[in-house]
Amino acid sequence: MKGVILAGGLGSRLFPCTKVTNKHLLPVYNKPMIYYPLKTMVNAGLKDIMIVTGGNYAGDFLRILGNGKEFGLKDISYTYQEGEGGIAEALKLAENFAEGEKIFVILGDNIIEDDVSEAVKDFEKQKEGAGIFLKGVPDPERFGVAEIKEGKVINIEEKPNKPKSNYAVCGLYLYDKNVFDIAKELKPSGRGELEITDVNNEYIKRGIMSYSLLKGWWTDAGTFESLFKASKLVAEKEGLKF
Ligand code: G1P
Repeated sequence: MKGVILAGGLGSRLFPCTKVTNKHLLPVYNKPMIYYPLKTMVNAGLKDIMIVTGGNYAGDFLRILGNGKEFGLKDISYTYQEGEGGIAEALKLAENFAEGEKIFVILGDNIIEDDVSEAVKDFEKQKEGAGIFLKGVPDPERFGVAEIKEGKVINIEEKPNKPKSNYAVCGLYLYDKNVFDIAKELKPSGRGELEITDVNNEYIKRGIMSYSLLKGWWTDAGTFESLFKASKLVAEKEGLKF
């Protein structure tokens, strides 16, 4: 299985900080944000990892991560996204890299406490399909929200006004090789983007979507509030007392 970290976008919710750097290079406690999803992937046993980025500061990823020696990697692959097109659009750029293998995708601003090795190993044994991670949250309307019936996810709604559950779909996804064909068939959403939620709903429709619940904390870090929260959670985990 190969790993893909999506680290593009303008980070407009973090202006003015993101006027001079990529969102994923901003600090979360004492490390650049990108370190955390990369660590999650390496801990799950992945060695072949690609970072999809874009914008004016793409070169800074190389300066910060290089070949990933600090993470025990031999090298890191990078690709560049021209313009903005949404998460599923960025994912399409990883098709050549994937070479028909399954992929583990993490959104570069998603930080988790758990080790997800088991879920990744289980998915590796599966013949086909996709896997998502869910977390109960107090503010599901900010995320993709899973509707669950009889132990199965039957639909995901992107940022619903009236969420059907409090289970947010975290920015960590497991896909078989069909993900690229599915992404190619997508139509832009109301916000003009190719939505990862539409990719996931296609797997649900095909009856081959599984899910795991995250036990530990999970946060995104794409707004000032969540960035602050992410720093606090990481710092506390590292034993810092406020
Ligand atoms: C994206 C996804 C959403 C998911 C979230 C996790 O939202 O579209 O389904 O719950 O990431 O961080 P965005 O951050 O692009 O608004």
